[in-house]
Amino acid sequence: MRTAFRASIFHCLADPGQAAAESASEYVEDGMLIVDDGIVTALGPAGQLQSTLNDDVRVEDMRDKLILPGFIDCHVHYSQLDIMAAYGEQLLDWLHRYAYPEEARFADVAHARDVADAFLDGLLANGTTTALVFATVHPQSVDAIFEAAAGRNMRLIAGKVLMDRHCPPELRDDADSAYADSKALIGRWHGKGRLGYAITPRFALTSSEAQLESTGRLAAEFPDTWIQTHLAENTEEVEEIARQFPDCRSYLDVYERFGLVRDRSIFAHCLYLDDTDRAVMAARGAAGAFCPTSNLFLGSGLFDLEAMTGAGVNVGLATDVGGGTSLSMLRTMSEAYKVLHLQGQPLPASRALYLATLGAAAALGLEDRIGNLEPGKEADFIVVDPHASDATSRRAQTTNSVDELLFSLIFLGDDRNISATYIQGCRALTCLRGK
Ligand code: GUN
Ligand code: ZN
Repeated sequence: MRTAFRASIFHCLADPGQAAAESASEYVEDGMLIVDDGIVTALGPAGQLQSTLNDDVRVEDMRDKLILPGFIDCHVHYSQLDIMAAYGEQLLDWLHRYAYPEEARFADVAHARDVADAFLDGLLANGTTTALVFATVHPQSVDAIFEAAAGRNMRLIAGKVLMDRHCPPELRDDADSAYADSKALIGRWHGKGRLGYAITPRFALTSSEAQLESTGRLAAEFPDTWIQTHLAENTEEVEEIARQFPDCRSYLDVYERFGLVRDRSIFAHCLYLDDTDRAVMAARGAAGAFCPTSNLFLGSGLFDLEAMTGAGVNVGLATDVGGGTSLSMLRTMSEAYKVLHLQGQPLPASRALYLATLGAAAALGLEDRIGNLEPGKEADFIVVDPHASDATSRRAQTTNSVDELLFSLIFLGDDRNISATYIQGCRALTCLRGK
């Protein structure tokens, strides 16, 4: 089925932090996007493309709005949706006081399904069309999020959390069950439709050496799965890792020794790395997830984007809910701007959007499928309405360029401004592909 969308259209073609501004993004003020069976087949000026359409093609006219690629959240815990904004702790105490008790509730599959639905609807309402997601230690929590994603035709990657020490007994698996359960879940879900599996050791503190070893074996056996974990988020955590793994050169080196630093490895946070760590990540093709709302909320530290991308490491933006405080990638971009501003690193709107779209897709190794709206890509996009709230509407009248408009939307916008989210050319929550 063919559908056409007429609106202003903006997307990134490369990293504006590393490519010339003219070639890093494309803006078509009166644009048209043509989608055939869920895939973008043309993007250009409406005046040129309109005449190529047969009379029976439906054209959705959104000329007062802006189409952007769907946002991509590179690190988020669906099981922590209901503990966002829990007061007063830094990482290790926060985990024990808030995160672990909440995750224990996911032994109940009815609860897992309920939260999975609310979580994915929350992503879609905020314009996020793809995410890399932590479930919990319970295999049924993974089934719940994949079933919910498949029902929405979302491109989603998720995995069962592996943890066998330094956590409450009801949340522990072991080296053998971690391997066997993950393997069964890979067989059930990886590559099914738009779904992918991520091998998910929580972090080196909660996995024994035996579990890290079985996880590395699994990663070698299934090289096209993703690996997601946490790395160097908090100083107390980094000191504890040094005590637990005295033979390792660094925190990253723990993962490196067990074969967990490779293409399709995504490390959340990466705040306390050195040049060697970043060089190893770049050489292996591993990526970093920048989680600004979480890093500020948990008092963890400031992400050094310049050092990461300068070393050649791919970086994507991420909410890290529930350490993060919002599912909104607009909010996440605005906090990223502040984190970088504090370090003298500029973040123009186009680069913030890159980190939430094409850059995030590259971090996940999916830039050939999603991340922008070039012909051939899957048509996951959002329709942004600058006039959906007083604050954004008034500000839109004083902006003089698309860059200024985007910047104002990043700071002042919220889910009210995401007037629609399209998954493979179908409006989310109102139609399924093919209907
Ligand atoms: N490190 C290990 N587990 C977690 C978690 O759930 N959230 C965050 N922010 N960091 C972690
Ligand atoms: Zn996290």
